[in-house]
Amino acid sequence: MYCEVVSSVPERAWTELRSLARDAAARAYAPYSMVTVGAAALTSDGTTVVGSNVENASYGLTLCAECSLVSDLVRGGGGRLVAVSVVAGDGEPLTPCGRCRQLLYEHGGAGLLVDAGEGRGPSTLGDLLPGAFGPEDLGTRRNA
Ligand code: THU
Repeated sequence: MYCEVVSSVPERAWTELRSLARDAAARAYAPYSMVTVGAAALTSDGTTVVGSNVENASYGLTLCAECSLVSDLVRGGGGRLVAVSVVAGDGEPLTPCGRCRQLLYEHGGAGLLVDAGEGRGPSTLGDLLPGAFGPEDLGTRRNA
């Protein structure tokens, strides 16, 4: 079912997303973990959004790169995420953490394509976060 969607994001778009994600990783603030992360995504209207991780001396307050990306998306007027690339400072793909899978799900859904690196087919967010709880569940699960 996803083959059609996967082939709709051309390789040159993935190349551009990886490049933007690497640039974003170079702008991260990660003095504590020393793991810089950058994220870049394509939206359904063809725009791109980016994010970098931003750490804090109170470690638990750290913002992941995907969190910054979602902030960029909403600040820029919103839209649906279609394809996302997340890389660490070494330029290689980094699989989004659990919390960020949920953040991305809100704005891309199960069909969001997640980069697995050059020469590898992307995963879908539905593969990475099966059975996700999402906005549609709120409407059906509220107390009467
Ligand atoms: N990090 C991200 O930015 N995204 C992820 O999906 C995983 C982890 C960041 C958070 C922290 O600044 C550093 O990587 C090490 O955990």
